[in-house]
Amino acid sequence: MTQVHICEVGPRDGLQNARHLMPTQAKKAWIAALAAAGLKEIEVGSFVPPKLIPAMADSAEVVAFSTKIQNLKVVALAPNLKGFERAVAAGAHKVTFPVSASRKHSESNVRMTPEQMIEEVRRCADLGGAEIEGAVSTAFGCTLQGVVPEDDVVRIAVALAKFCGGVALADTVGYANPAQVKRIFRRVKSEIGSKLEGAHFHDTRGLGLANALAAYEEGVRHFDSSMGGLGGCPFAPGASGNVITEDLVFMFESMGVATGVDFAKLLKARDLLVTAIPEEPIYGHTPLAGLPKGFRQLA
Ligand code: COA
Ligand code: ZN
Repeated sequence: MTQVHICEVGPRDGLQNARHLMPTQAKKAWIAALAAAGLKEIEVGSFVPPKLIPAMADSAEVVAFSTKIQNLKVVALAPNLKGFERAVAAGAHKVTFPVSASRKHSESNVRMTPEQMIEEVRRCADLGGAEIEGAVSTAFGCTLQGVVPEDDVVRIAVALAKFCGGVALADTVGYANPAQVKRIFRRVKSEIGSKLEGAHFHDTRGLGLANALAAYEEGVRHFDSSMGGLGGCPFAPGASGNVITEDLVFMFESMGVATGVDFAKLLKARDLLVTAIPEEPIYGHTPLAGLPKGFRQLA
């Protein structure tokens, strides 16, 4: 049976952009419930200056807790060497670096040019201590720069593939469309082959699932998504929620593609999210409509 691998990014991409702070205890309970639902990889936090993103200030404690959950790959985001060292010290299994293809977003987000950021990631890879993913952010367009040339995306992906364990393409601001997704994933794959792993989409213009399906048809099997469609980069104006985990699971399972995620348990995790930050807008079609009559979860 065909399988896809879903990395839940709600505790990081979701909460970094939420208007309400989730207390540390609630984060831990939510992460445990997400893992119990069958999500085998969760991006649980980011190691950025706490003053910049207060919601991520407890990431060391959250990472340390998450590493005690069996069979869970614990991922953290880092924007630089200092963040990488903090992530490794906390015990993160994998560290993701946002490397923007848009120069303007890169300068806004990490105060480095894309070239400087590539060198920063290279330094971290040389140090070792965790698996490293290079995520090419704003790979499909940027609210600050506008059009992002495809050649820039390919060049950055090729550079990262030389020292990263895997490379992902991220639609940070929800500009991507399925034709563009197919074209760019195909181009990058022809250059870096199996090093191209992940797809990270935002649902800002309602095309999150369509883009995920387009990437799937190009052979992508690793997807990021966020419970309740939380998410967005605080340093990219207009960025909003990720593709919704609940709907992504439903799409793949109903297509006969196994996700390993138990839908009933996923809804229990969603209840914890809603209880922890009740004022935060939470999205999701399948949780509201319910599963279709006769729907059978795959093994
Ligand atoms: N974690 C904690 N503290 C950090 C840090 C990190 N990863 N990186 C830098 N700092 C501290 C420095 O030690 C310094 O502290 P001091 O003022 O007490 O000496 C201060 O922050 C400024 O350091 P500097 O290296 O000059 O950073 P900067 O101000 O140029 O900011 C980044 C650069 C990369 C740290 C910042 O832009 C950033 O965190 N960006 C990520 C934003 C993000 O999370 N976006 C969403 C996810 S894509
Ligand atoms: Zn994102």
